Order: sequence, then structure tokens, then C-alpha cells
Amino acid sequence: MNISDRHKASKNSAYWNDLVHGTTGRYKEAWIKKLVSEHLALRGGALMDVGCGSCDFMLDFRDRLHAESVTFLDYDPKVIEKLRPRYTGPGVYFQVADILQAGLNGRFDLVFFLDMLHEVYSFHGRPNRNLAEPVDHERGLAAVRTAVTNVAATLNPGGGIVITDNVLCEEDHPVTVKILAPRPRDAVRHFLADFPTKVIPHRFLDDWTLTLDSRDFCILLTQYNKIKNGDIDRWNVERLEIHQYWTLEQFRTMFRDLGCRICYEIGTPSPSYSEWMADFQVLEGMPNIPHKRITLLAIKERD
Ligand SMILES: C[S@@+](CC[C@H](N)C(=O)[O-])C[C@H]1O[C@@H](n2cnc3c(N)ncnc32)[C@H](O)[C@@H]1O
Repeated sequence: MNISDRHKASKNSAYWNDLVHGTTGRYKEAWIKKLVSEHLALRGGALMDVGCGSCDFMLDFRDRLHAESVTFLDYDPKVIEKLRPRYTGPGVYFQVADILQAGLNGRFDLVFFLDMLHEVYSFHGRPNRNLAEPVDHERGLAAVRTAVTNVAATLNPGGGIVITDNVLCEEDHPVTVKILAPRPRDAVRHFLADFPTKVIPHRFLDDWTLTLDSRDFCILLTQYNKIKNGDIDRWNVERLEIHQYWTLEQFRTMFRDLGCRICYEIGTPSPSYSEWMADFQVLEGMPNIPHKRITLLAIKERD
């Protein structure tokens, strides 16, 4: 089984629940609706959901925007087979394809990449698609750039791309962090010893305090709590991925080059931020614990 097949096979219903219905799902849905309604003058047109998973609010969007069509694209045939019977009717299309290989037909007005580009980064970024090897950062970024560029080429001027994912902080230097309780400390140690996707250089100064790169701290924050909370099934999926690949500035640069302006929100669903504040204290290197999620709308100004 290659890496993507292993990853597809390991996603269970608990995995989908948080993404779609849990805190994360509600958080991202609220911000997407706000950004689109405030910044995009769109009525009618064609929507596409890339890496659609079981994302339920897309038909809602179609109705709100009076869109003529919506295309659900995912490279996992199981995902598409689940959606097909639920989402019937005129103007609903399905495509099983890897976004890097999909021949995209026609033009679109609003395209969604919801929590999926980090998978493009994590799996296309691995040399030889080998789980035992860490992600090659530059290769991963090149894959993300290609996916977004291919889609941007199909967008009508005035149309948009929505991305949700986690984001790296702008700071890129060592931070010193104190861990405030035994469970997060044990989870952090487990994470640092068992994350095949990236080698994270770090140094423990004592039992509770470590230094690491600020951006690796962002990655750690996304990952450690699955271990802490004993969610080992979820951890077995997550340990194959990195959710953060770019900073806001890197998103801005890519979209400027593609003729798009961006609007965005960076934040963290409050239960996650409260958990971090209870588990960590930043002693040096950054003012506080960094926020993690980006909701970004890029609006195409020219072809
Ligand atoms: C983390 S899930 C997100 C699902 C949904 N968009 C959401 O936000 O709830 C990522 C989805 O992207 C799909 N995916 C990952 N890489 C892909 C690729 N290269 N081409 C197409 N689909 C991909 C996966 O099969 C999975 O369904």
C-alpha cells in the first residue's frame, strides 16, 4: 500500500466528526461564510470543493449563492461513493482524481480547499512517497503551489479560492517553552520521539522546559493533544501529516503572483487555545502561544 492509500484507509468516523461537525468544523464554516459574504460579489456560477471529504455545508453554499453547479473532487473513491447518494440533483458533479493530475474542465467561480492542502504537502512532498522518510519541505510547497495555480487558471475574474488550514507563525527563531503538567509533558516527549513526518530539533533544559524552533512549536501544538487525550486512532492518522506548510506572507506572495488579492482571518477555536494556555507557557522567543488556523479568501482580479 502506498502512503496515500494507507492514509486514506486510516481515516475513521471520529476523524471526520471533528473536521465537519466538531469545534473545528463550526469554526471554519462561520469564518468562510463571513469572508465570502463580506468580500465576494457572487451570484450564480460554478463551485468546486477540492478534497471534499464529507464536507456538508457545500450545498448550503450553492443555495446561498444561487450557484448553477457544484463539483465534488476527491482522490479517495470511498469519499465520493458516500456523497453520491446524498447529493443528487441537477448541477451536482463528482470527480475522483488527484488534484495534481485532474484535468479540470471548464471555468469556476468559487473553489474550496478546506483542510486538504496540508495533505498535498505531506504526501506529494515525500520523496518516493515513503512513510519512513520525512516530508521534503520544498517539494511539498511546490506541490501546493501547483495545485493552487492549476485551479486559479480555471477561475473567472472576480471569482475566489477559499483555503482553510493551519498556518505557520511569521517568527522563525528559537523559543523556550515551559510545559505545565505531566500529561502534556509526556505527550510532548512521545510526539518528539514518534513523528516520522519531520525531525524536530529540540533540547530539554530540564524536565519541564524545552527550546525548539518557533515554527516547529506550531506543528507540535497541532499534534500533541491527540496523544495527550489518548486518541491513538487519530494520532495514527496525524503522525503521517504536517498541517502547517506556509506563513501568511507566503500565501500573500503566491496569490499576488496569481493576480489575486486576499482577505483572511487567523485565529484558534477557543477550546484549543484554552487547552494550550493550560499546558504551556512561552518563556522566551515570542510574546505568547501562536494562533493556528487560517481562513483565507483569494479573489482573482485578473487572468
Ligand atoms: C482532511 S480531509 C478534509 C475534508 C474536507 N475538505 C473538510 O474540510 O472537512 C482532506 C481530504 O482531501 C482529500 N485529498 C487529499 N489529497 C488529495 C489530492 N491530492 N487530491 C484530491 N483529494 C485529496 C482526502 O482524501 C480527504 O478527503
